[in-house]
Amino acid sequence: MILRAAISGKTQNASTADVSAIRDCVEVNLIGLVQTTTTFLPLLRASPQAVILNVSSGLASDTWLASNAPLLQAISYSTSKTAANSYTIALAQELKKEGIKVNAATPGVTSTKLNNYHPAGKKARQGAECLLPWALIDKSGPTCEYCCDALFETFILVLYRPNF
Ligand SMILES: NC(=O)c1ccc[n+]([C@@H]2O[C@H](COP(=O)([O-])OP(=O)(O)OC[C@H]3O[C@@H](n4cnc5c(N)ncnc54)[C@H](OP(=O)(O)O)[C@@H]3O)[C@@H](O)[C@H]2O)c1
Repeated sequence: MILRAAISGKTQNASTADVSAIRDCVEVNLIGLVQTTTTFLPLLRASPQAVILNVSSGLASDTWLASNAPLLQAISYSTSKTAANSYTIALAQELKKEGIKVNAATPGVTSTKLNNYHPAGKKARQGAECLLPWALIDKSGPTCEYCCDALFETFILVLYRPNF
């Protein structure tokens, strides 16, 4: 199961944040992900080789954000995606004993509707190819991992800034 639905929300400062914009992002990027997971979990449990892939973002990494101050204005998006990473960790730990693999991975900056088709992004197919190995892991594959091509994200985002 690949969970990828997300919205980017509006760019704003933390100190003057419009709470309704944050709430909208949390609703889709976190609550939607949790709700879909709990709804489909019974079906996944019936599968001999269940895999959950939460599509994350470089902007979900607190470590990465702390060293990239110019990008901190995507707070609706980043806070909701960071919370989704937190949920992913908890779910991965809980489902470990059942053999269900749960990971988070990011496609890297990709030219899609989410960022108004940012001209510096990868093509959608290239972004999807970054995610594919994480969707196709087998029983011996990793769980509770976060895969992010941080170097690529930094290069593109610092140079071009998000286009939200
Ligand atoms: N693009 C990037 O640079 C980038 C970088 C890092 C991570 N990501 C992640 O990649 C994932 C896919 O995004 P994308 O770039 O492919 O953007 P996208 O083309 O805008 O796709 C987002 C998808 O989410 C769906 N969606 C939005 N709100 C929804 C809702 N309330 N209920 C159900 N579905 C909803 C959209 O459906 P509709 O088309 O029907 O609106 C769309 O299919 C996201 O999780 C995003 O955070 C993207």
